[in-house]
Amino acid sequence: MKGVILSGGHGTRLRPLTHTGPKQLIPIANKPVIYYAIEDLRDAGITDIGIILGTNMPNKIKDALGDGSKFGVKITYIMQGEPKGLAHAAATAKDFVDGDSFVMYLGDNILKSGIEEFVKGFDESKFASRLLLQEVPDPRQFGVAELNDNGEIINLVEKPEHPKSNLALVGIYLFKNEIFDAIDKIKPSWRNELEITDAIQKLIDEGYDVDSFVVEGWWKDTGKPEDVLDANQLILESIQTDIKGTIEDDVKIKGRVIIGEDTIIKSGSVIKGPAIIGKNCEIKGYVGPYTSIGDNTKLIESEIDSSIIIGNSIIQSDKRITESLLGQNSKIISDKTTYPKGRSFVIGENSIINL
Ligand code: G1P
Repeated sequence: MKGVILSGGHGTRLRPLTHTGPKQLIPIANKPVIYYAIEDLRDAGITDIGIILGTNMPNKIKDALGDGSKFGVKITYIMQGEPKGLAHAAATAKDFVDGDSFVMYLGDNILKSGIEEFVKGFDESKFASRLLLQEVPDPRQFGVAELNDNGEIINLVEKPEHPKSNLALVGIYLFKNEIFDAIDKIKPSWRNELEITDAIQKLIDEGYDVDSFVVEGWWKDTGKPEDVLDANQLILESIQTDIKGTIEDDVKIKGRVIIGEDTIIKSGSVIKGPAIIGKNCEIKGYVGPYTSIGDNTKLIESEIDSSIIIGNSIIQSDKRITESLLGQNSKIISDKTTYPKGRSFVIGENSIINL
């Protein structure tokens, strides 16, 4: 089997972060979200992986992943160009897939359980596709599946107003070669995209069998800032303590905490896990649960919890920072020495500031 990871899209709901990089590189617990997809494929024994690139700084993805050897996989890059829908992206992988069955993995999805169970037996099965599903409270923002008593899919609708079930399509799909003919036969949807749900519905209409696998552990589509913070919390739930940096005297560390090389936790600080602090940071203050701090960050006499600092940042804030997502090279300074007093911002479009 092969793996195909979709890594295009404009990531509009994650601006301004996606003005300077693709959304698949936003770190969750200090690791780009797309790394989790690659590791899931590798752990399921799939090491021949095609990465579909869009137009939003594709070279940054290439720089981050290289030839895949650091993950123990082989990566082939495939250009999608302008994003015209998930089915369009899948179609660009046809030559790479070359008749094999494959996993299509949306590069912004993250799943606790991995995909080993899901993939098992598919290659030899009679099914043309297998879909990963999860029960969700509000299915209207997802593709929604209707099943028969055998768990086979009878109907699929993309973002329905009146969902027929609470089973959402997780962004991880198994396909055989028939999907490419089905994609050729569909037309763009109301949002002018070639929808993968329409292509799978086409398979069903043509008499192919499509089965399903309902996943129990958590799943997140990291399309919006709040989803990124949720995913960060979920990943941090299962970290193990690993301290490489220097902890000065009179520091309190509670719970599970990862601290990277060349980081100094200054005297008087309190770190309450689960939390991760990267390399070469200087921390003086309070780092609370569900916080990920990227490399080369200085926290000066400040408090932070439930947040992501991507890296290379300086925080010196007289109020606690909570539930925040800070891009590279951010500075938050409570400056009491200069005039005029007041709050001063240089922020990108779609920024959110709660004071
Ligand atoms: C896409 C699919 C949808 C699926 C979702 C999972 O939605 O179209 O069927 O449920 O991914 O992440 P989109 O991210 O395009 O809104």
